Amino acid sequence: MKRLENKVAVITGSATGIGQATALVFAEQGATVVCADVDLEKAQATVKQIEQAGGKAEAVHVDVSQVDSVKQLADHLASTYGTVDVLFNNAGIDQQGGKVHEYPIELFDQIIAVDLRGTFLTSKFVIPLMLKNGGSIINTSSMSGRAADLNRSGYNAAKGGIANFTRAMAIDYAREGIRVNSLSPGTIETPLIDTLVGGKEEEQGKQFRDANAWITPLGRLGKPREMATVALFLASDDSSYVTGEDITADGGIMAYTWPGEMLIDDKWKTDAE
Ligand SMILES: NC(=O)c1ccc[n+]([C@@H]2O[C@H](COP(=O)([O-])OP(=O)(O)OC[C@H]3O[C@@H](n4cnc5c(N)ncnc54)[C@H](O)[C@@H]3O)[C@@H](O)[C@H]2O)c1
Repeated sequence: MKRLENKVAVITGSATGIGQATALVFAEQGATVVCADVDLEKAQATVKQIEQAGGKAEAVHVDVSQVDSVKQLADHLASTYGTVDVLFNNAGIDQQGGKVHEYPIELFDQIIAVDLRGTFLTSKFVIPLMLKNGGSIINTSSMSGRAADLNRSGYNAAKGGIANFTRAMAIDYAREGIRVNSLSPGTIETPLIDTLVGGKEEEQGKQFRDANAWITPLGRLGKPREMATVALFLASDDSSYVTGEDITADGGIMAYTWPGEMLIDDKWKTDAE
């Protein structure tokens, strides 16, 4: 039996990257996937891929930072499906903004609005559809929610907030049969990295990827599907006794305090893809 048979799964930010890979994996496991994204055209392309593979999905426009837009999504879910079993709050943005005293207020507000407030809003309006049957919610934090990055305080604040917001949600809904956990990716090769530091072919983008491979114990960046399979574990009954937890999937970065011999070991240069 497939692990998400007869389940309705809503994934925000499923037009590209981790959300897109998760939409494909959830559909392979039998879920009907609602691909909710601000970029409807690309979300429709995800749906097409799912349908070509024999799965069920639909694309719905949502801007998770806007109350009315999230309400519209919830209304659509209520009238189309009645209940929702899995919610993956994955939509997010990231951008460098400089040190705190130079960080643009608008950028801080925007990152908090999409990443943190968007997680709150989507949960607030979709949870009523999960109360009857219970289910699983996966929020997307980051290793950048567990420790900090240079020039990215807005993102660090949003992702740190999501980790503790997840615990609050887990406590609020444990007795209602809704489990709530967060997934904290390390550096994963997605369009978000292109926006943050430039593409693979650009000098800065290449340097960032090489440096990340170097500092990552597993010696490479993660792939979107490697996050999707962790999300599948959290979405399915395989994790039936797990709630209020954050799972870090970062190739081992958060496991050390000092990289030691990794600093002089250049094995990553040959191992990295
Ligand atoms: N890629 C990484 O290294 C990494 C690391 C840690 C955490 N994350 C988190 O993983 C999640 C997915 O990121 P990704 O790397 O796949 O990036 P991505 O840019 O490929 O995907 C993000 C998706 O969110 C959508 N989106 C953006 N703003 C939205 C809005 N207001 N409403 C609805 N949808 C919106 C985009 O259209 C896109 O489809 C994000 O929350 C991100 O912060 C990514």
